[in-house]
Amino acid sequence: MGMSQPPAVHVTRRLTFAAGHILAKPEWDDARNREVFGACSGDHGHNYDLEVTVSGSVDVNTGMVINLREVDRIVKELVIHDVDHRHLNRDVPWLQGCLPTTENVALAIWHRLEGNLSSARLEKIRLKETENNVVEVERG
Ligand code: NI
Repeated sequence: MGMSQPPAVHVTRRLTFAAGHILAKPEWDDARNREVFGACSGDHGHNYDLEVTVSGSVDVNTGMVINLREVDRIVKELVIHDVDHRHLNRDVPWLQGCLPTTENVALAIWHRLEGNLSSARLEKIRLKETENNVVEVERG
């Protein structure tokens, strides 16, 4: 019997925010924007659900990978504070020049949080725009 690797432990914190966006490329006409982006080509908002999953070893003293209150505090400071009740096309410095699809917003959130979650390692971002539309960004 060889040495077995310790199992990977993932923990997830869920946060929510509400934000407006428009999905439309200025170089396309209205018809093409409507064809590609549908209802999202006009100005509107969503109640987003954000799940941040991290991994690490379980601390023998606390029994935790990381205190989820700490994850909550960091995600609020780096992400939620900037996007909640804001317009994603206009108001968020780290989304400037970005078409705010769920994919692009999830990727931008990944880059905001990567390396900034204390001792825990970022594993996955899950961003739900509607009940039917969910994007996941995972460590490659
Ligand atoms: Ni939309």
